[in-house]
Amino acid sequence: MKNAAHEDDPVLERFHFLVNAPALFNAVTTAAELRIFAFLSGKPGASAADIQSFCGVPAHQLRVLLQAVCTTGLLERRDGGYHNASVAEELLAADEEPDSWSHILTGWKEVYYPAFADMTTALRAGTNTALAAHPGDEPTLYGRLSRNPPLEAVFHRAMTAFTLRSVDALIEQPVFDDVRHVLDVGGGDGSTSARLVARHPELRTTVFDMPSVSRLASGARSGRVSVVPGDMFTDPFPEGPDAVLFSHVLEIFDEDSILLLMRKAYDALPSGGRVMVYGYNVSDDETDGVFGARLGLYFNVLASGRGMAYPARDYERWLREAGFGEVETVPGLPYEHGLSLGVKR
Ligand SMILES: C[S@@+](CC[C@H](N)C(=O)[O-])C[C@H]1O[C@@H](n2cnc3c(N)ncnc32)[C@H](O)[C@@H]1O
Repeated sequence: MKNAAHEDDPVLERFHFLVNAPALFNAVTTAAELRIFAFLSGKPGASAADIQSFCGVPAHQLRVLLQAVCTTGLLERRDGGYHNASVAEELLAADEEPDSWSHILTGWKEVYYPAFADMTTALRAGTNTALAAHPGDEPTLYGRLSRNPPLEAVFHRAMTAFTLRSVDALIEQPVFDDVRHVLDVGGGDGSTSARLVARHPELRTTVFDMPSVSRLASGARSGRVSVVPGDMFTDPFPEGPDAVLFSHVLEIFDEDSILLLMRKAYDALPSGGRVMVYGYNVSDDETDGVFGARLGLYFNVLASGRGMAYPARDYERWLREAGFGEVETVPGLPYEHGLSLGVKR
């Protein structure tokens, strides 16, 4: 057989998983939406009949679903009973917590993956053609979602859950010991800011995001977290910060917009003020990083038509170009994250 020599090739094994992954992704998401992981957390070893009376899916269809989820390893079957694997228990069982991966799965299912069917067209066209699925004339997904509050809420629940999974590495950085007022540009629903002030009692933050999103941040507003609605490109940055944080923001844009935002941050800061760029970094040779790969495709097909999980060295070069000194990156943070830093001289 022609392929026999390659049967132990790990790339082949990965290929076989990959071609089935869209179906399995949806099976895991369905199991999460049916709350099967939450149920099994309270009732490990439950039978298929127990699960059926909990979720109401017909016996045969449930059998198919459980088989699919078992192949992923997230469910285990022992003596006829089903158990959450430890990864499922950790990521999916507590599905009402804001950091549950179940919100991320639903967000990716409803917002990201329908758009990926448009990939060839969008990449050829050089723009985010999948945006046509969302009514409106705004050029980015963020603008269009403001017309669809239920989907915008799904999107931000997913983004918040992901942020909560990756934010601890950010808030523990020593750079926050040296600043007093962080401007959280594109701060979303304020989750990052809320975590920052909880961890650093001397710190205050200003969340700056589009008006429709700022409404979602009302829960984070407190004595030390203020919320200012606005457009980061067309409105001036709020005054007073000694640090500007871009968390999961610059990767949405292209070089010109990134430089514009970095220069705007430079102008808004006092001398000695700091800029912080937190987010996904692909490897310098741009061959590694599955989270970054997915994100770059999502941006170009749907979200903004540009951007990617840039390698840290790109951010460092742009920070220097914008005038910042003492430029460095804290690499290797969880989920392929890095933190690039600079100081206004
Ligand atoms: C990927 S989210 C990041 C949210 C948050 N900083 C985090 O780390 O989870 C990008 C944010 O940028 C905001 N955004 C995009 N374009 C914007 C603009 N022109 N002005 C203000 N905010 C914008 C979006 O509304 C969204 O909340």
